[in-house]
Amino acid sequence: PVVTPFSVPLPIPPVLRPVTSSRSADHYEMVVTPATARIFPGLDTRVLTFNGSFPGPTIRSRRGRAAVVKVTNKMSTPAAVHLHGANVAPESDGHPLDTIDPGASRLYHYPNSQPAATLWYHDHAHHVEAEQVYRGLTGAYIISDSETDALRLPSGEFDIPLVIRDAQFDGDGQLVWKLDDFANRKTVLVNGAIQPTHKVKRRKYRLRLINAANSRPLRLALNPASDVIQIASDGGLLGRPVTRPEVELWPAERAEIVIDFSKFPSGTNVILENTFNGPETPGRQLLRFEVTGSVVADDSVVPAKLRDLEDLGTPTVTRRIVLARDPTNTFYAIDGKAYDPKRIDLTVKRGTTELWEVVNDDGQYNFPHSIHLHLVQFRVLERAGQPVGEWEAYPKDTARVPAGQTVKILVKFDSEFTGVYPFHCHFFDHSSMAMMANMQVLP
Ligand code: C2O
Ligand code: CU
Repeated sequence: PVVTPFSVPLPIPPVLRPVTSSRSADHYEMVVTPATARIFPGLDTRVLTFNGSFPGPTIRSRRGRAAVVKVTNKMSTPAAVHLHGANVAPESDGHPLDTIDPGASRLYHYPNSQPAATLWYHDHAHHVEAEQVYRGLTGAYIISDSETDALRLPSGEFDIPLVIRDAQFDGDGQLVWKLDDFANRKTVLVNGAIQPTHKVKRRKYRLRLINAANSRPLRLALNPASDVIQIASDGGLLGRPVTRPEVELWPAERAEIVIDFSKFPSGTNVILENTFNGPETPGRQLLRFEVTGSVVADDSVVPAKLRDLEDLGTPTVTRRIVLARDPTNTFYAIDGKAYDPKRIDLTVKRGTTELWEVVNDDGQYNFPHSIHLHLVQFRVLERAGQPVGEWEAYPKDTARVPAGQTVKILVKFDSEFTGVYPFHCHFFDHSSMAMMANMQVLP
């Protein structure tokens, strides 16, 4: 089956409404359930969903106001919901073994005690997360706060999450799943649609880009070529906006960008493209913006300064973490070991700052990896001996580690929470094949 390019309107995932709200918290309910999605005309594609939505509904939270999410698992396999990028207690972190059995429910408590940011939630059940995420278990989770509101960035209908992932479909329009088969996932979906189109007014838009693919890196650029203004990274606003010709996002990384469509004449079609593998990139043209009408009044702004960034201090511990296939080349490993969800691989002390040198030792195979830590946001200092640009330095929870390169990150364990949290490569095909470890944060 085929979709005529740019024939489908861009779906905007529904915003989840609380079932009840108390003075300090909003209570939500989500059901993890198989469902069908209309991806190809006239065909039902079997997917996994939160509340029947592919991708899942967007949760919009306020800093300082908790969200309590009751999740019921109506699949035949275990589920674990991880709020990626969030500062949460271990029992609400969706650890791979801390799963919801088929038919059961549980509550996740999200304190939202962190700066405004574009987070996302996804399945994390041990060994099956790669497949379950691939089949659809993802959604956007947006924290806003009054400091950020005061900046008057584009908001409301001009603030749009774009959940981007790839997939492979068979002749019946069904998802084809094969672990570690990245090369055949050539169709890219934006908010669950193939090459959708979105009519935009001639004014500024804020786009929240989420790479929800299992393994596909994205280098996002506009055609006709035009700069975008990046204002935020994984864990929230940058210190100041950065004007960029392209934004590179590997799996699980996020960026918020502002595009001013008033600079394009009415009638212009602006295509969001993935140029990661050059002109031959599969699914290169992701989304079309149709610029229409005359320039409209726009009181949104992009201030020259966005916020003061935290000082993470000076490291008192240095570690080397090696990402590589195991010596027999049968699984993906961290420090030569396959993930054992019950083993504690390292301990850190709450309040300390550490320097992690993360080495990709798979240069011989040309395998890319990344490093993602639960619980904290870190600063990327350098990659391959070079300082990284401010747009991918801080605040980060996932950093790319290209084949054969070393990335240095500065991590301050400044959360109020202690306990066991995973860290892993965020190519889900790799983490499902054991490229994961546990850290224990001690009081
Ligand atoms: Cu999105 Cu354990 O990760
Ligand atoms: Cu990897």
